[in-house]
Amino acid sequence: MLKTAVLVSGGGTNLQAIIDAVKEGKITHTEISLVISNNQNAYALERAKNAGIPSMCISPKVYETREEFHKVLTKTLKDAGVDLIVLAGFLVAIPEMLVKEFPGKIINIHPSLIPSFCGVGYYGLKVHEAALARGVKVTGATVHFVDCGMDTGPIILQKAVAVEEGDTPEILQRRVMEQAEWIILPQAIDMIANGKVNQRK
Ligand code: GRF
Repeated sequence: MLKTAVLVSGGGTNLQAIIDAVKEGKITHTEISLVISNNQNAYALERAKNAGIPSMCISPKVYETREEFHKVLTKTLKDAGVDLIVLAGFLVAIPEMLVKEFPGKIINIHPSLIPSFCGVGYYGLKVHEAALARGVKVTGATVHFVDCGMDTGPIILQKAVAVEEGDTPEILQRRVMEQAEWIILPQAIDMIANGKVNQRK
């Protein structure tokens, strides 16, 4: 059984896609054992509660230093004994100590076809604003392993989505979530749980 923690910051639609996929048997041999948000008000925490999944808020704001926050986050995940950490709309930079504690066991969903529109400053709507500004005809989403860089780890899955005439960043974001993120993130977890992706060290 792949004990999985999901880290969230916002609405939690990717978390919901994972919860639903486990319930529907699209993700097997996996247990979502913990949801952590840096944001007390994240609706994702509500989704976890509704699904009966233990959840908590660990906010950098309540610690004297960033280092302290990093230590608490890392210890919490280590004590939870998870095999996989999924960043699902998690907007906090992942500390090196966490990557070192969980080598090849952290994955992230990014709302573009990496290496386009990724790295520092590219998150949420900003990604889609940049894609529209560049005039790309195709965008999409990427699931990748997390290393010490920003959106630089080995790619696991990608799914392309067409940009349509008249798209706003909001319309494009929704289409990328519906047609790509909510499909490939559960798919990647199921692949890892069933030994179809080697968790790179
Ligand atoms: C979305 O922009 C998504 O593309 C990215 O994180 C944001 C929030 O996602 N992965 P969620 O609804 O909280 O899963």
